[in-house]
Amino acid sequence: MANVVVVGAQWGDEGKGKIVDWLSERADVIARFQGGHNAGHTLVIDGAVYKLSLLPSGIVRGGKLSVIGNGVVLDPWHMVQEIEKLRGQGVEITPENLVIAENAPLILSVHGELDRARESQNSVAKIGTTGRGIGPAYEDKVGRRAIRVADLADDATLELRVDRLLMHHDALRRGLGLPEIDRAALLVELKAIAPQILPYAGPVWKILNEHRRAGKRILFEGAQGALLDIDFGTYPFVTSSNVIAGQAATGTGIGPGSIDFVLGIVKAYTTRVGEGPFPAELHDADGQRLGERGHEFGTVTGRKRRCGWFDAVLVRQTCATSGVNGIAFTKLDVLDGFETLKICTGYALDGAVLDYLPTAADQQARCTPIYEEMEGWSESTEGARSWADLPGAAIKYVRRVEELIGCPVALLSTSPEREDTILVTDPFAD
Ligand code: IMP
Repeated sequence: MANVVVVGAQWGDEGKGKIVDWLSERADVIARFQGGHNAGHTLVIDGAVYKLSLLPSGIVRGGKLSVIGNGVVLDPWHMVQEIEKLRGQGVEITPENLVIAENAPLILSVHGELDRARESQNSVAKIGTTGRGIGPAYEDKVGRRAIRVADLADDATLELRVDRLLMHHDALRRGLGLPEIDRAALLVELKAIAPQILPYAGPVWKILNEHRRAGKRILFEGAQGALLDIDFGTYPFVTSSNVIAGQAATGTGIGPGSIDFVLGIVKAYTTRVGEGPFPAELHDADGQRLGERGHEFGTVTGRKRRCGWFDAVLVRQTCATSGVNGIAFTKLDVLDGFETLKICTGYALDGAVLDYLPTAADQQARCTPIYEEMEGWSESTEGARSWADLPGAAIKYVRRVEELIGCPVALLSTSPEREDTILVTDPFAD
C-alpha cells in the first residue's frame, strides 16, 4: 500500500498532467486537494484529447474514484460544464466515481468579478491572476463567510450564508464602483445549481480514510506549483492556497502519516505566468527559443509564459518545503540543440552569495543568478525510453540537477506521450 502526492516544484506548468495520468492508471482513488479551475491539464489518451481544470485527472479512466477535497474552491457552474463536456466525449461521471467534499467552499460569480476588477483597476496591486475568482473565494473561506457545498442542501441556511456574504461584498463593491449584489438573483442561481451538485457531495475525509484502511492506493493530485504557495511562494505574486505537499492532508482530511511518497514535478528549465520575481528569467533569443520549443502558452488563459534557465536554488527549496522523495523530470527534449546550457546555482545579493531565495520582496527582486555552464547536446532526446537512448551530455545534465537539488530523479519524461517515460523508482512501490 502506498499513497502518493504529486506537486509542481516550480511555478506550475511543469507537465503534471501526463505524470498524474501515468500514475492514475495505478491508483484506486485520485484526489484534488487545493486550487480550483485556475489549473489546466491536457490529457491525451489513445489519441483523444481531454481538457480538465477542476476534475481530478483520474475521471477519464474507468474504475477509479475521483475526489474533490475541502482544500479546493469549487465553481459549481464550471463544474457542471466540465462534467457535461466530458460526458460528450464519452466519459462516464456519476456519484459512484466522483465525490465532492461537503465542506468545500464555493466560487460564485461575485468572486470572479472582484478578482478581475482588482486586477484591472490598480496596476500596483496586479498579480496576473487567472481571473477565476480563486483569491476572493479563499478570502471568504478564512473570513468564515463562504458558502460551502453542504449549505446548498437547506434553503434557510443558504439564505443566512448569502446575507453574511453580502454584508462584506456589497461594502467592497461600493468601494470599487461595482453595483451591489442582487440577493434574489443570487439565491435563484444557487438553488438552481444545487440539485446538480448535491448528488456528488459526501464526507471526503471519511471516504478517503476508509479507502486507506482497505489498502487502496490514493493519488493526491496537486495543481499550480510550490513557488505559487501562499506561504512559501513569491508572495504576493502567488495563488491563494497552500500548494506544497502538506496540503494534501489538510485539503482532504487524512493524516500526514498516510503520505508515503511525494513526487515533485520539475521541468528541465523554468517558466512562470503572471507577475513576480524570476531571477533566472531570459529576455534574449535563448528565452524565446525555450518558449517556442516548449510551447509555453498558458492552458487556462493562453498567456505567453516567461522562460528561463533551470534554477536549482528554487527547486532545492521546494523539494525541502514539500519533502519531495523523488522528482519527475520533464521536457528535457526542449533543451536539445543548445550548444551550452546554464543552471542557476546561487544568487548574488549585496555582495553575498545566497543558496536560497530570500523572503523579502525587494531582496527577491534584486537577486541576480549565478550560473554554472554545461555542455549541451545536438542529438534528439525526444521519445527516449531508456538511459541508453540519451546522449552522454543529457545524462550529465540530469545527474548534475539531481546533485544540485539534493533529490533523485524517479521518472524522466521525454515527450507528451505516456509511453515516453523512463522509470527509475516507482512511487507506488510497496
Ligand atoms: P490565481 O490562482 O488565479 O489567483 O493566480 C495567481 C497566480 O498564480 C498568477 O500568477 C497565475 O498566473 C498563477 N497560476 C494560477 N494557476 C496556475 C496554473 O495552473 N499554472 C501556472 N500558474 C498558475
